[in-house]
Amino acid sequence: MAKIGSYNTKMFDDNTITAEVKRLEQMSEYDKEDIKKFCKEFNFEGIKSLLDIGCGPGFVAAMFSKLNPNGLVIGIDREERFIKIANELAKNQEISNLEFKVSDCYKLPFDDDTFECSFSRYVLEHVSEPIAVINEMKRVTKPEGKIGIFEWDAGLNVYYPEPRFLRKYFDSEMEIKRSTGGDICFGRKAYTALRSCGIKDITVQPVNERVADHNREFFISNHKWFGTRVHPFVQMGLMSQGELDTYYSDLEEIVRSDDSYISYQKLIIVGKVDK
Ligand SMILES: C[S@@+](CC[C@H](N)C(=O)[O-])C[C@H]1O[C@@H](n2cnc3c(N)ncnc32)[C@H](O)[C@@H]1O
Repeated sequence: MAKIGSYNTKMFDDNTITAEVKRLEQMSEYDKEDIKKFCKEFNFEGIKSLLDIGCGPGFVAAMFSKLNPNGLVIGIDREERFIKIANELAKNQEISNLEFKVSDCYKLPFDDDTFECSFSRYVLEHVSEPIAVINEMKRVTKPEGKIGIFEWDAGLNVYYPEPRFLRKYFDSEMEIKRSTGGDICFGRKAYTALRSCGIKDITVQPVNERVADHNREFFISNHKWFGTRVHPFVQMGLMSQGELDTYYSDLEEIVRSDDSYISYQKLIIVGKVDK
């Protein structure tokens, strides 16, 4: 039985889930141009059906459905509250080619060979058995259909100069994710994971983005995902409050400075299903 994974929505109450939905909406805006790039890799315009695994509140699925009004986009997520928001989004924006379902990505409620494309963004880093999920994506995708993964890799980010306690923060994040089944360095492993599932013609586009070219304040707030709660790294004894405060104050200063270089590593990976 797979571990719950590192994105556990049971930890969200009414306030924190609202903040998380906002964060995911901002992140999909932030990645808009890369999502368009992704569609190009899919030859998206002619595609009739696409599945978004772990779609959350549906912002990216909605972008897909607008970019290809002739194709049906279906999003699945195990969190009912996200699916409710996603259905409201489709209804309010009168998007008719967009549907959502509550489902676990280890056991998708679709027949074999249903979709022309299966896609997932920022989900495989959170699951304890990414190979099982990719195989499930492959099962529901037609032969010669495409599988796309949009991921990041925290170990490939660049910070110059470095905030104090950067390494400790990184190790703590790694440890906390690992204990629940996630992997903040999944991005670099996605190519071999797809290959091991028999996916062919895999292309990898690394997108190394300078934070200063985007929204610096969003980068900072995204780093502070815990909100006003006691930070889990402190709770688990991985960092002291003092170390964490130092890390954050250095990070904020460095991110806001024009004399620093901070970049964020994403990867766009697409391959074809061979059955
Ligand atoms: C970081 S969010 C990404 C949401 C969305 N893909 C996006 O790009 O905005 C991770 C999502 O994966 C979902 N998730 C995690 N494990 C899952 C599972 N086993 N089955 C289905 N969804 C899952 C979570 O509920 C959450 O919505």
